[in-house]
Amino acid sequence: MHITITTPLYYVNDKPHLGSTYTTIACDAFARYHRLIGNKVEFITGVDEHGQKIQRTAESKNIKPIEHCDSISKEYQDLWSQWFISNDHFVRTTSHQHIDLVERFFKKVNDNGDIRIGNQKGWYCVGCEEYKEVKANNNSPECPIHLTMLEWRDEENLFFCLSKYQKEIEKLVSDSSFIQPSTRRNEIINFVSKGLKDFSISRINVKWGIPVPGYKGHTFYVWFDALLGYISALSDNQQNIILEKGKLKGWPNAIHVIGKDILRFHAVYWPAMLMSAGLDIPQKVFGHGFLTREGLKMGKSLGNVLDPKELLDKYGDEPLRWFLLSDIKFGQDGDFQQKRFIELVNNDLANTIGNLLNRTLNMSRKWFNNSIPTDIDYNNDNELKVLAKSIINDSLVYYENLSFKEVCQLLIKLSSASNLYLNDKQPWKLIKDNNRIGEVSQYIYNVLESCRIIALLINPILPKISQEILRQLGYKNILNEWKDELKWGRLKEGTKLPIPKPILNRIE
Ligand code: MSP
Repeated sequence: MHITITTPLYYVNDKPHLGSTYTTIACDAFARYHRLIGNKVEFITGVDEHGQKIQRTAESKNIKPIEHCDSISKEYQDLWSQWFISNDHFVRTTSHQHIDLVERFFKKVNDNGDIRIGNQKGWYCVGCEEYKEVKANNNSPECPIHLTMLEWRDEENLFFCLSKYQKEIEKLVSDSSFIQPSTRRNEIINFVSKGLKDFSISRINVKWGIPVPGYKGHTFYVWFDALLGYISALSDNQQNIILEKGKLKGWPNAIHVIGKDILRFHAVYWPAMLMSAGLDIPQKVFGHGFLTREGLKMGKSLGNVLDPKELLDKYGDEPLRWFLLSDIKFGQDGDFQQKRFIELVNNDLANTIGNLLNRTLNMSRKWFNNSIPTDIDYNNDNELKVLAKSIINDSLVYYENLSFKEVCQLLIKLSSASNLYLNDKQPWKLIKDNNRIGEVSQYIYNVLESCRIIALLINPILPKISQEILRQLGYKNILNEWKDELKWGRLKEGTKLPIPKPILNRIE
């Protein structure tokens, strides 16, 4: 299967923070999982570079908007490579290719009769780049997300005739597989049921935007422009992307992973735009929760962000990946607390998984000539094999549903069960009895197999630790046929074992 996985295209008004890193890590795990099960993946991330917010940021720094965009865009690209993100595309909405696509897309929608001129009045949040609904008697409203004053606007804009798509969008959002997790669906169903209003897709006072062909003085509204970034990403190296149903690579098998703040744009406006242009709509929109600090959304505008670069330098990427994906249920909000982060990583990765691997490899090396034991019954029925089998099945389902926390919990369950298995069998006592060496071989082998399964299953979340565990197990055919390799009994008896080392140093 050929699929597309996207992060939002992040605004370049400021440098990246842990919130955007969170979405990107989750998408990375999801993309890695899909590659492992044999899918061809177009993993798209990138930046959203136009609009008033960015225009103002550049003005305040006294530099040209494009200079500002170049520098922040580079920060994002550098950061993703430092976080070991496996994206296949990085979109910049200032690229010629993207601008060309936006113009052609607009023409299609306009030719379809879905654009009209009108007047837009209302309260606008530049931080959200969105008009907000405000109670009639409120003359100084604030944005609930950014806690800044909204700005009054009254201007001529071009409108996209969203109202024409009421029936289609109602049908789409009531489909239980389209918006996930299901808790988010009701909010959108409710919004749609109030009746869809046409939305303005151009601005007349924003210079830093793509000019609307044929409408002098108008630039495209940043959201109309940005959503199309997902399509322009798919046109890498392909000058003339074909805007026709069924012709886009990796589309419509597409899943947009976003924060819950921008669900409406992805689940309502975007599908209607695609319908209007005669294109297929994506398969799924997953709206995850916010990372908070002291209960407030962590964000550039509130200035309460954690710097992913600093955290990376201090702790490394994989401990943070583990914390973000294992501590917070994907879909719900979660607070970042340093103390909890350190405890969790030390307990799970250093103590539970790390110790299991280390102690078992040490026993194997000591008693079996630096190798995996021999005389193994590969079909030996034992409790770890039974548990591993059910954990493999469940993990695949959880991965499919982006339930990363649940996968992590299962991996800790298998590690703990394997540690208990050793404590129960006490091979260090049995080894003293020459008649019981065969038993010891099998016990050690079973635990090493369990470590191999853990390493394979953890790969989408912690790719480096996964490879390191497999290397220490002397396991060569790494990740070629993942699903097949997940079958019990693939470690070869007698394989030489490299000298073990901690997979992670405890964080102090
Ligand atoms: N530019 C738009 C998206 C256009 S997509 C075609 C935008 N950009 S943004 O920089 O504001 O990024 C918003 C996204 O960043 C959220 O939807 C979420 O994915 C991520 N996050 C930003 N802050 C976050 C938290 N505090 N917590 C979790 N995710 C956060 O909106």
